[in-house]
Amino acid sequence: MTDVRRPGLFLSFEGMDGSGKTTQMSLLIDRLRQEGYDVLETAEPGGTPIGRQIRRILLDGANQELSSRAELLLYFACRAQNVDEWIRPALTAGRIVVSDRFTDSTLAYQGAGRGLPLDTIHALHRFACGPTAPDLTIYLDIDRAIGLARAHARNAERAAAAQPDETRIDDEAPEFHDRVHQAYAALCDNEPNRIRRIDAAQDIGQVHADIWDAVASRVAAHALRKGPAHV
Ligand code: TMP
Repeated sequence: MTDVRRPGLFLSFEGMDGSGKTTQMSLLIDRLRQEGYDVLETAEPGGTPIGRQIRRILLDGANQELSSRAELLLYFACRAQNVDEWIRPALTAGRIVVSDRFTDSTLAYQGAGRGLPLDTIHALHRFACGPTAPDLTIYLDIDRAIGLARAHARNAERAAAAQPDETRIDDEAPEFHDRVHQAYAALCDNEPNRIRRIDAAQDIGQVHADIWDAVASRVAAHALRKGPAHV
């Protein structure tokens, strides 16, 4: 549900690990800022300083004993903090918010992946986020095996650079990731007006062009004010 009372625009990126979200998000944000829009960049899990602490618990491969219900609640704790501290104030101020993942990820990973009840996830979303939800979601569709191979390569680079471990979800079985991929396909079918599916196997420039095509019309339709570049 979109909060019609606020003037800003809320965009989210979704996709399997290794779908190129990070690259495409930064290309989009750079372009929006070059056009003069005031953009808040955030991420789930992460974003706020408190969210980044929760992210470490969620993604650390050493935390094998984390239960599915505790995992679900931590994702929503992170999201509630992000909405309260960053996202809602930015939307109220008329800014564009771009989030790397939001509740669609929870429906795909904890709902389909872990098998937790979808009605519980929807109820937690209402509690954690109220009416705050993306106006437009860019879903980068990538073959599961290609995405996971890229994610594992990135995780190996992180380990070599002694960066914090973020392997806990990537190391789930292939069947888990297949369920996530199927759930994303179903979300796209159910909400074609909100979710734009983009073929992430194309070259980087074409993926960006497709994303810009989807975003530019929404930005124009929203009549967003241009403000000082906020980096
Ligand atoms: P990423 O920030 O590199 O995309 O990684 C976040 C990981 O957390 C990714 O494997 C997807 C997973 N995730 C969930 O399982 N549930 C969620 O609600 C979110 C936001 C992410």
